[in-house]
Amino acid sequence: MRLRNTRAAKQKIEEMPGLIIEEPELLRGKWEAYFGNSNPLHVELGMGKGRFITTMATLYPKINFIGIDRISAVMVKAMKLDYHGLPNLRFLNIDGSVLEQYFAPEEIDRLYLNFSDPWPKKRHAKRRLTSPFFLNIYNKLLSPRGEIHFKTDNVDFFEYSLLQFVEAGYSLRRITYDLHHSGFTGNVRTEYESKFAAQGYPICRCEALPAVRKTHVPEDAPSD
Ligand SMILES: C[S@@+](CC[C@H](N)C(=O)[O-])C[C@H]1O[C@@H](n2cnc3c(N)ncnc32)[C@H](O)[C@@H]1O
Repeated sequence: MRLRNTRAAKQKIEEMPGLIIEEPELLRGKWEAYFGNSNPLHVELGMGKGRFITTMATLYPKINFIGIDRISAVMVKAMKLDYHGLPNLRFLNIDGSVLEQYFAPEEIDRLYLNFSDPWPKKRHAKRRLTSPFFLNIYNKLLSPRGEIHFKTDNVDFFEYSLLQFVEAGYSLRRITYDLHHSGFTGNVRTEYESKFAAQGYPICRCEALPAVRKTHVPEDAPSD
């Protein structure tokens, strides 16, 4: 178990057994069996306090959701949200750089990257969740119908990411530099999104489809 717990975080986690999965490496390639169904698997990497993923899991009970963050103290805040033992929602306290230890190739149907840290300094570029290192991992883990949905307030980071997606062979669609005035329906706001929108920052969004795509199977999935 790799939780970086404060004592309060540990106590809160113990009050909600099963929500944060211990020893998730045992479930690699077995997430369908774990959830007990073959519903699509949607993952948010960098869930923060978890408003987005918790709302999504409530809105879409026929999709399995996994929220990931490397900091357990923020995940504990997600537990204060309206979590009513949703059977389709679980959290992992891991670092995204080792996703392949927890998910088998093509196991993830959708990956959400919401307001990922932009790491503006060049020497930190490898930490960006849309760096070539991470895009290569996602490409392996996304299913043939897989998609990445990316949102940020940071235009420089957005443009960097668009370039990285293209250079890694992803195709892009639904690109907007002002999501909230784009006519897009079904958007679920994250904590950071609400904060930046309230400060007047437009929100950038795009969808990226992985390099190796087989047949696209339309699914009854959220439009976000
Ligand atoms: C700026 S916050 C955004 C939180 C949330 N998605 C939102 O939009 O409100 C970014 C989150 O990503 C997490 N994060 C950053 N790098 C990560 C990594 N490599 N693996 C897992 N989580 C990461 C941070 O701990 C932080 O909670």
